[in-house]
Amino acid sequence: MNFYRFFRSLLPSELSIPANLGQWILTSLGYYRFRTRIASKGAPNVDVNLYRPLYVPWEGEPEFRRLYAAIAPHTMVSADRCWILLHLMRHALALSGDFAEFGVFRGGTALLTAQVLGEAGDRRLLHLFDSFAGMPKTSANESFSQGDFAETSEAAVRQLVAPTGANVEFHVGYIPDTFQGLKIDQFAFAYVDVDLYQSVLDCVEFAYPRLVPGGILLFDDYGFPSCARAREAVDLAFAQRREKPIYLPTGQAMVIKLP
Ligand SMILES: C[S@@+](CC[C@H](N)C(=O)[O-])C[C@H]1O[C@@H](n2cnc3c(N)ncnc32)[C@H](O)[C@@H]1O
Repeated sequence: MNFYRFFRSLLPSELSIPANLGQWILTSLGYYRFRTRIASKGAPNVDVNLYRPLYVPWEGEPEFRRLYAAIAPHTMVSADRCWILLHLMRHALALSGDFAEFGVFRGGTALLTAQVLGEAGDRRLLHLFDSFAGMPKTSANESFSQGDFAETSEAAVRQLVAPTGANVEFHVGYIPDTFQGLKIDQFAFAYVDVDLYQSVLDCVEFAYPRLVPGGILLFDDYGFPSCARAREAVDLAFAQRREKPIYLPTGQAMVIKLP
């Protein structure tokens, strides 16, 4: 075990180090509000409070705040990433096919997805894949160990998503074993948040052929230093495919299935 892996193993696997402390201080001091007023040369700007320096609706847009407040205690996924996830899912509602999440843990982003389907009165299936018993055996040079993320349960996540009224199907166990024999024809949207090289590859092999044209695959972990091998897996999976992963400044990457 090298020094960095040893140091990371001392921290809880779900810990993410807070970013942008400096930005938080500047925001509190009113620096960005002042800067936006100057830049707009006095022209009215309804959301002046949400420019830091660009428009950051995930930090205060009221409807999103309501949705994120419900999921925040149950997710490791930051508000900016959930904003992207939310809007890609709303876009995908126009497509036919099921929704899926690979990597559920305590169910925060699964709840967001169930909220989107529930509030739209959409009865398509939402498939949730996780061992609910932690990570499987990991590959070389990964920051995680077998058994990380075990502090959850299928029952707790079932209870969390139930009030949304979404049509949720649980696939409990290790990927790719849980793909065996599944009768899923089409995905409109699939969210991959499994952190590991082999798990990402397995998810792409399963989800991509079932994705409808225009359907979206969103990868949570692409740009995170703790998940460098997940990025490697995405790049490998699409090296010989026509679609190219689109990297987002949030750390996510997305793929839109070509016709
Ligand atoms: C980062 S967590 C998911 C976070 C979650 N989306 C949220 O809202 O916080 C990654 C999850 O992927 C699961 N996972 C990774 N590889 C897996 C595999 N091969 N089979 C089943 N579950 C897997 C882990 O057990 C863990 O619960």
